[in-house]
Amino acid sequence: MGKSTFDTKALLAKMTLEEKVGQLIQLNAGFIGKSVAEITGPLQSFGFDNTMLPYVGSTLNFHGVEEMKAIQDKHMAEDRLHIPLVFMMDIIHGYRTIYPIPLARGASFDPDLVTECSKMAAKEGSAGGVQVTFTPMVDYVRDARWGRVMETCGEDPYLNGVMGAAQVRAFQGDDISDPDHMAACVKHFAAYGGAEAGRDYNTVEISERLLREYYFPAYKACIDAGVTMLMPSFNSLNGVPSIANEWLLQDVLKKEWKFDGVVISDYNAIGELKRHGITGDAKEAARMAFENGCDIDMMSVGYGNHLAELVREGTISEEKIDEAVLKVLELKKALGLFEDPYHGASEEKEKALCLCEEHREIARRAAEESAVLLKNNGILPLPKNVKKLALIGPFADNQEIRGSWGCNGKTEDCTSMYMGIRNLLPDAEITVCRGCSNYFDEIGEEEFEEAARIASEADAVILCLGEPQKYSGEGNSRADITLPGVQDALARKVIAANANTAVVLFNGRPLVLKELDAIAPAILDMWFPGTEGGNAAARLLFGDANPSGKVTMSFPKATGQCPIYYNHPSTGRPKRYPEDQHQPYASSYIGCGNLALYPFGHGLSYSNFVYESMELDRTSMTKGEKIAVTIRVRNDSDRAGKEVVQLYMHDLYASTVRPIQSLIGFKKVEIGAGETATVTFEVTEPMLRFYDAKCNFVSEAGEFTLSTGYADNLLFTQSFFLNE
Ligand code: BGC
Repeated sequence: MGKSTFDTKALLAKMTLEEKVGQLIQLNAGFIGKSVAEITGPLQSFGFDNTMLPYVGSTLNFHGVEEMKAIQDKHMAEDRLHIPLVFMMDIIHGYRTIYPIPLARGASFDPDLVTECSKMAAKEGSAGGVQVTFTPMVDYVRDARWGRVMETCGEDPYLNGVMGAAQVRAFQGDDISDPDHMAACVKHFAAYGGAEAGRDYNTVEISERLLREYYFPAYKACIDAGVTMLMPSFNSLNGVPSIANEWLLQDVLKKEWKFDGVVISDYNAIGELKRHGITGDAKEAARMAFENGCDIDMMSVGYGNHLAELVREGTISEEKIDEAVLKVLELKKALGLFEDPYHGASEEKEKALCLCEEHREIARRAAEESAVLLKNNGILPLPKNVKKLALIGPFADNQEIRGSWGCNGKTEDCTSMYMGIRNLLPDAEITVCRGCSNYFDEIGEEEFEEAARIASEADAVILCLGEPQKYSGEGNSRADITLPGVQDALARKVIAANANTAVVLFNGRPLVLKELDAIAPAILDMWFPGTEGGNAAARLLFGDANPSGKVTMSFPKATGQCPIYYNHPSTGRPKRYPEDQHQPYASSYIGCGNLALYPFGHGLSYSNFVYESMELDRTSMTKGEKIAVTIRVRNDSDRAGKEVVQLYMHDLYASTVRPIQSLIGFKKVEIGAGETATVTFEVTEPMLRFYDAKCNFVSEAGEFTLSTGYADNLLFTQSFFLNE
């Protein structure tokens, strides 16, 4: 990778110990832009040894190419050896042109689309000065109370890995020195999404078997795709915070997976070893993290204040420091920074690319393909010649639909629902009424009455509900994941006034929609769709686009069902099958049972897809052989559409309890009106492997089933045997 012939070892040989340690420190851009003498305020109270400032190796949280260049120029001029900084940033769902949140993108089940989105973000971001992005976030999740589920692809490890690897390849390209690309950093290793009770930063206790089977595969898929960097997670895993967890970072990551890229701590994670109660001594925290393989300290005082001292007193060898520094210098070399410290970034490029037509078009398409039609009694799509249209609800004309981690995206760039419909139907008579406060905490009876009156006078109503953006994302967990505030009551009022009401949702997680599902004729989930959200929603509602997204994280019937996920282990007393329904002593909940309201893989279309058949070319195989599965799906409608054909596997009897089903393949296919698609999958023995009680990755001979359809609606289940 990379064309540079720069001699990093010769540079290293010239560096003092302090200069070397500096390369292992990452500080916010706001700090770096200053000079040593200027250090007052936050950096001083942060307790950082400001004499280290000129040596700092990388930075984050800067704003655009102008600032990047100014900081880079100043830094390189002041640094004795003129070593460029690396500029890093979180580009989670777009740089300036914002595409849907990752949970939505997962719902598109389209890795090519994810690739397109990531490529455009890489171009924009790189033009804006970003050289490394803290993406992809591939934490596996089962609990929608956790706010960061919006950054993930949901509850399936296979889908997570496919989407993670696609992002790595798209961001990095073949050469990270190419100004259209940048280095990627997979995060948060490991199992950050397993936070107990869905509370952010909470402790994680997960067996090794479960870690390896569900939580690890996506990180590993990103490493196999060649990701440059990795970020350990904030949480403690089985009693030890990731940054200090030797089993995780040494045994698994380095020795087993042979990851030799740059490891960067999460924001102040080294400092947080104190709050975790692992050590009250910042120097000891620095030693622990460094010896455990963390190369760069993001925003704690640990490395800056103590690493050099740890070397001088003989606790850490200078060779070890050299190894880590060389990795950082090699990253700079691979990015081509010794030749071009701006990595091709320029104001002109940033301006030309950000929000350009082509990128907005990709963002719009991504928002359309990520939307999930959860329910439709036939009122959608709405006719375009509708005369009087009422747009009601807190999201009726709300541009705050970017979603958390919107990077440089701006609220004012986003098209609201109203703006989208106006663009599509310039002559329609549209009345807009918020119905209740944007932040959902006012009862607003007057607005209710007004909403009901407007609804009753309209030919069709679009009721726009959801969560405020700040209810999901980092630090934003919810104990109750129903629609916030008075929105269910507003929905009752509006739907009672006009039955021709379609609900559109904007949200960062699966919500509890039991009440809404009972009364709403149609529900279209847009998630947080980004810059082009309103345009995409309008095209979907009026049939210019056909919904094709599928749920990737179960929608519970009640918050108390969390964690809820389709691929759960069999129990000895299930309550899933007709014969179990009268069992009093069964694994279920009184009142709401144990099925999701909208399970994994569910999502409707305006087309009518009929699964005609599923055929296996053989009913047994041995290792080294494969079974071809052919599924035929007919589009029994007069509208072309896309269907995600899903293949599930169940291992009926094994030495450890197996999930009741696991997704082992999916393909999104476009099927013309009245046409039939034939989709084939190959099933091989490695796809049947699992971790046994001793954590050996094995397949065991016996009977398996394959099914298509979606999680709680399996069709054409057929069995086959794996022979010894
Ligand atoms: C988040 C990371 C992010 C980092 C830098 C942390 O708070 O957990 O995901 O990459 O900040 O912005």
